[in-house]
This record gives sequence, C-alpha cells and structure tokens, in this order.
Amino acid sequence: MRLETEINKRRTFAIISHPDAGKTTLTEKFLLYGGAIQVAGAVKSNKIKKSATSDFMEIERQRGISVATSVMSFEYQGINVNLLDTPGHKDFAEDTYRTLTAVDSVILVIDCVKGVEEQTERLMEVCRMRKTPVIIFINKMDRDGKDPFDLLDELEDKLSIKVRPLSWPINTGTHFKGVYSIYHHKINLFRPGSQRVEDDVITIDNLNDKTLDTQVGERDAEQLRHDIELIEGVYDAFDTNRYLKADVAPVFFGSAINNFGVQELLETFIQIAPVPQGRDTDKRYVDADEEKFTGFIFKIHANIDPRHRDRIAFLRVCSGHFERNSFYHHVRLDKNLRFNNPYAFLAASKDVVDEAWPGDVIGLYDTGNFKIGDTLTEGEDVMFRGIPSFSPEIFKELVNMDPMKTKQLEKGIEQLTDEGVAQLFVHNNGFKKVVGTVGELQFEVIQYRLEHEYGAKCRFQPIQMNKACWLTTSDKKQLDEFMRLKTDYIYFDKDHNPVYMAETGWALNVAIQNHPHITFHTTSEFKTAVE
Ligand code: G4P
Repeated sequence: MRLETEINKRRTFAIISHPDAGKTTLTEKFLLYGGAIQVAGAVKSNKIKKSATSDFMEIERQRGISVATSVMSFEYQGINVNLLDTPGHKDFAEDTYRTLTAVDSVILVIDCVKGVEEQTERLMEVCRMRKTPVIIFINKMDRDGKDPFDLLDELEDKLSIKVRPLSWPINTGTHFKGVYSIYHHKINLFRPGSQRVEDDVITIDNLNDKTLDTQVGERDAEQLRHDIELIEGVYDAFDTNRYLKADVAPVFFGSAINNFGVQELLETFIQIAPVPQGRDTDKRYVDADEEKFTGFIFKIHANIDPRHRDRIAFLRVCSGHFERNSFYHHVRLDKNLRFNNPYAFLAASKDVVDEAWPGDVIGLYDTGNFKIGDTLTEGEDVMFRGIPSFSPEIFKELVNMDPMKTKQLEKGIEQLTDEGVAQLFVHNNGFKKVVGTVGELQFEVIQYRLEHEYGAKCRFQPIQMNKACWLTTSDKKQLDEFMRLKTDYIYFDKDHNPVYMAETGWALNVAIQNHPHITFHTTSEFKTAVE
C-alpha cells in the first residue's frame, strides 16, 4: 500500500534540448515553482557548451555544478518531482543517453526561431527507441520565429513523432499576445518582462466570446479562431494513453525567460506524465511495484574535491524500497554491499536519506565498486538492460609522458573510463592503449583530470582508426584465424572482449564479407551489429 502511494506521487524526467534553446532557463522556472530555489539565476547556465575550445577551469567548475544539479528534486502540488540534468555539450551526448535510461518521460525544448536542430534529432532518436513519452515546449515565442504550423510539421518530419498542440500562440515575436490553452480553455495574456498575474488569465469556454476581441484585438482573435478550427480539424483529440505509449507528443508554446506558459506546462506535466515505470532486465521485466528493491547505476561522477578519489554513483531505484544501512546484492561482483550515507538531491543541497522509492535517484559513495549499468537487488541475479554503451568515433593512443607515474596513469585511466567518459582498448598486453570517445573535448578532460587527480602526465597521439567492432562468432576457428591475421588490429576492452579496430570503413567491409561466421558489433552491448 505504502509502495503504491509512494510510486503514484513521483515523476522522474529530464529536460532535453539543443544547447541554447532554453533548458537551463526552464529548469530554473520549474525550481522556482517548486520552491526549491528562491531567486532567478540560481541555476547556472552550462557555459562550456558554448565555447568551441575548452577552458579547463571552466570544465572543473562545471563538474562541480553538474554534481550539484545532476538531480533536482522538488515538490509541486503534492508530487515529488525528480528532474535529471543532462549536459549541454554535444561531446557529452552519451552521458545524456544514459541519463535517459533513468527517466520515465522527457520535456523537449525547441527554440521557435531555430526549429528542430541536429542534437534534438539525435536525442529524440533515443527517446523513440526507448518509447519514452515526450512533451514538447516551443520556447522564445517573444521572438520572431517560424510559423507555428510550420514548426509542427517540422517536428513531425524531423523527429518522426506525431504531435498534438495543447496550447496555441496568439501572434508571435514583438506582436506576441499570449497563448490559448486548448487543454484548459483559457487565454493567458502575455506582458513582456512581467511575472504573470491572475488578471492575465481569462477563461474562455467559447472562442466566439467577444471578450477575446477586446483583449487581443479583432484581427488576432479571428486568426486564433481560424487556427484552432484548423487544429481541431487536422489533429486527433488529445489522448493521454497515446502520449504514455509515446505515440503522440503534446506541444506547448511559451517563453521561459518571461515565465510564460511555464506553469501550464508544469501543471499539465504533473497530471499526465507517467509515474515511475518498471524496467527490463536480462531475465525478466521488473515492475516498479514489486516489494523487493532493485536499482541500477546510470552515472558515475568523480568527487568534486580532487584530493579525494572516491566517486559518486547515481542509482535509480526501479522497484521496492531502498533502506540506508541494509545489505544489497551487487550482481556483477556477486558481493553484498551496505550504504551508510546514501543521499538525495534537493536542489543544490545533498541530504542523507534513510529510504528511497521507485523513481528516486540516490547518490552512493563509491570507492571503485561500480561501473555504469551495475544492478543492485535483494539477492536476485538480474541485470538491467538497455544502458547504452556508445560507439566511439574518435580514437587516440595514450602516451605516457612520465614513466615514474605509470601506476598512477594506469589507475587513472581505468577509473576515468569506468565513469563512462571514454572507452579503453588495450593491445599487446596493455603496452599500447587506445582511448575512444565520441567528442574531442573528452581527450582534454581526461588529460587534465589525469594530471590533476592522479598526478600522471600524458598526451594523446592521433591514430588511423575508423571503427571499433566487438567480435562474436559461431565458429571459433574462424575467429581465431581472423585474430591471427589481423593481429595488429585486435585489441581488448576492459572486460577482455576482443575488438577489431578497423583502420578504414573499406577494411571493415572486406573483413565482414570474408568472415561470414563472425559478427562485428559496433557497441559492447552486442546488440547493434554493423549492417
Ligand atoms: P540551454 O540551457 O538550453 O543551453 O539554454 P539557456 O536556458 O541557457 O538559454 C539560452 C539563451 O536563451 C539565454 O540567453 C537565455 O536567456 C535565452 N532565453 C531563454 N528563454 C528565452 C525566451 O523565452 N525568450 C528569449 N528571448 N530568450 C530566452 P544568453 O544571452 O545566452 O544567456 P544569459 O546571458 O541571458 O544567461
């Protein structure tokens, strides 16, 4: 009974967007509504996303901020809302993908001037794959942006998802007058720069009501009537179940910086967003309302204080009831662990918690036990699935610059790659190490952190490698033969799986054609084989 009540009052989600669309601003407004912060400006904008070249001090500062804002929990209308932060910089995109495995829904922010941008498409792909329900917020309506109908078409086109507007703008840019909430039959009038007051909300049950004309002018009133008629004619009525099945994404319009349309968004979100859902494991589906506790690690963060090497592992509770000081089973290590100081994230502060429920995210101090994707249970041997392991795109050889610090370098690179910022491949019994990432920035971060946290100096040397392919086979002899032939290109990942480091796409294709009994996988999950 208690479990059910706790599940029903939780919503765990992430806000995603292309950098600069307004994610930080919207987050901050949500936190203001939730009473988690008192003043605007408390959530610092993720500025490294903007700098083309990285600034190390900035990375460090960001790491500090991003631990504090990794999870922001607040209460709104009796609901415990857990908002998971995602990094803005595209080089950290895989961090975002993993965070998406820990949420039950997302709010996608779109800049009305720019429309759907590249990073938005990639993020939506992950949501589509996972069937994560999405609400879309079209931001910056105070600017002259694209035509709202064109924006809807663009969303459907580029994001391959059906949309359904639940609010509609009355004019845009400098002539923006407000939005009509199709969901609540209310007109919210816009006053630039001001916080909205009750007087700015007019309830209109019938759009033919002449009050509309007096409030927004005849021309805009007519346009609105026309637009709404069109919308009702073209789009199916909004169906919450279809949203929950990720078949349709409701769309809202507003302006985060002006705090306009934000409250409606939050209120509708609370009403329709899914409660914490179960997850699939390698053996069976685990429902959120099962009595026994289960959870998984989706993110590991080094301690903000570089003098302490311990880390924080972020655990999403999937089912049951987590209690402080209880022993839980670490499935991969087959070991029982107990946590004295798990903490929850209330805005910028961290509080030790005695218990946690499905949908909650807790921080566990880790001295090296955890890897991304690790599962904790009350004894059952199941591993949660679908924690994506990305396919690296850039490869560089790690060159030790200080032989006296070899041990530190080894330990550092082991631990940093456990955090999931990059992948490590070794050749020739570890004498040659190659690091694979999805972005250039990661190399700078690793180099900087190895020096500052582990006292080890290194540099990265570019090498000709195009793709890392994990190998499996139905014919061991063929695989052995391939590994012998390609010995210079065979590396091993951290779990000692053989990986073929193809120097070119052409070489890879030849290898695939010539070895029908070997499967070449582009991620270590062995799910997405190369076509
Ligand atoms: P992000 O986290 O998605 O990267 O975006 P962020 O909230 O940092 O917003 C990016 C820029 O867009 C900021 O301006 C912010 O003030 C502005 N912005 C957000 N919402 C709106 C809106 O509704 N209307 C308009 N016109 N602008 C909006 P900046 O100049 O880059 O930063 P700042 O100096 O204002 O902090």
